[in-house]
Amino acid sequence: MPTLGVNIDHVATIRQARRTVEPDPIAGAVLAELAGADGITCHLREDRRHIQDRDAQLLRQTVRTHLNLEMAATSEMVDIALALKPDYVTLVPERREEVTTEGGLDVAGQFSHFSSVVKQLQAAQIPVSLFIDADTAQIEASAKTSAQFIELHTGSYAEAKTEATQHKELEILSQGCQQAIALGLRVNAGHGLTYWNVRPVALLAGMEELNIGHSIISRAVLVGLERAVREMKQAIAGTL
Ligand code: PXP
Repeated sequence: MPTLGVNIDHVATIRQARRTVEPDPIAGAVLAELAGADGITCHLREDRRHIQDRDAQLLRQTVRTHLNLEMAATSEMVDIALALKPDYVTLVPERREEVTTEGGLDVAGQFSHFSSVVKQLQAAQIPVSLFIDADTAQIEASAKTSAQFIELHTGSYAEAKTEATQHKELEILSQGCQQAIALGLRVNAGHGLTYWNVRPVALLAGMEELNIGHSIISRAVLVGLERAVREMKQAIAGTL
């Protein structure tokens, strides 16, 4: 069964709505771990709309599972990652005007840029994951960068309006997962996963980690973070 990486960005989103000190995403990460999170994920965005530099630094000191830093492949972020040394970095595309990460990376189209960023991070012993759509060319290009992981973008699956489309999107994820594993990549997935749609993705052969944020934090507002994390672990295991 895949492990659960809890994305705590939206704890910081609530704090930043008032530019105050609460709720603290560090406390969120501690509670998520106590409830069974296998990893903590945060996205330090260029515009610092939720996670701040201070959060990333404190998470590095306090996270007891593993810390996955999501970031854009820019020189500013590479410098931050090299100093922070997260347990792994997930490179994501980033546009200022987007509400959340929209599409996957174009690794095939900007191959030399991504190869060079992957190598810089790996030279500092930081494993790298590339957030991509389950697209044959992107998976091949990702393997050629020598990144250890890809994270398959589950947005199209999550947004499918009919069962038939959802089934088709799941099949695309399944084939992408198999292609990636055959090329020696390790496979994570995330984006838009919920208590209701996570199980089929969890069942994909070889899937290692699911990174989930919005659905867990939304439930946490109503029932508390520990219960929300425990219930997501159950949804992944098919016991909810
Ligand atoms: N994985 C990646 C690479 C992301 O950018 C995000 C969104 O920050 C997530 C997973 C989590 O997505 P969601 O908040 O929809 O669960």
